[in-house]
Amino acid sequence: MTREELKAAAIAMLDRAYVPYSHFPVGAALECADGTVFTGCNIENAAYSPTLCAERTAVAKAVSEGHRDFVRIAVTGRCEDYCFPCAVCRQVLYEFAPDMEVISLNGKGEELALPLRELLPHGFGPAYLLEDKEDK
Ligand code: THU
Repeated sequence: MTREELKAAAIAMLDRAYVPYSHFPVGAALECADGTVFTGCNIENAAYSPTLCAERTAVAKAVSEGHRDFVRIAVTGRCEDYCFPCAVCRQVLYEFAPDMEVISLNGKGEELALPLRELLPHGFGPAYLLEDKEDK
């Protein structure tokens, strides 16, 4: 998938977002090393805290289908500013692919891309816990 196609896949997910409370749709498209792409949208909940961000929806789809080797993710809202992943989503992405690229889009489809390591400097990752452990 080209970069433009990945961005288009994220934008297409805006229409799937379930956002009755915030009215703030987010779409994501997560690309893996083998080229497989998993999309996601935010899914809100009346109890608020169970709300899933678009990025974590895509990660759950990918990991549950056996994919963890993420290369890049495109994230978009319909907002004026670039839609970057929240801190929780940065952490979840970092777990699997600290060197991936994050492509954030604004409502006009313009992009601002940054390495995840710049969005989450000195991140806490699996190495802290898996060092010298059997199931590493
Ligand atoms: N949201 C995402 O989907 N991804 C982010 O990284 C930021 C926030 C969603 C959660 C909620 O449904 C709405 O945006 C407003 O916070």
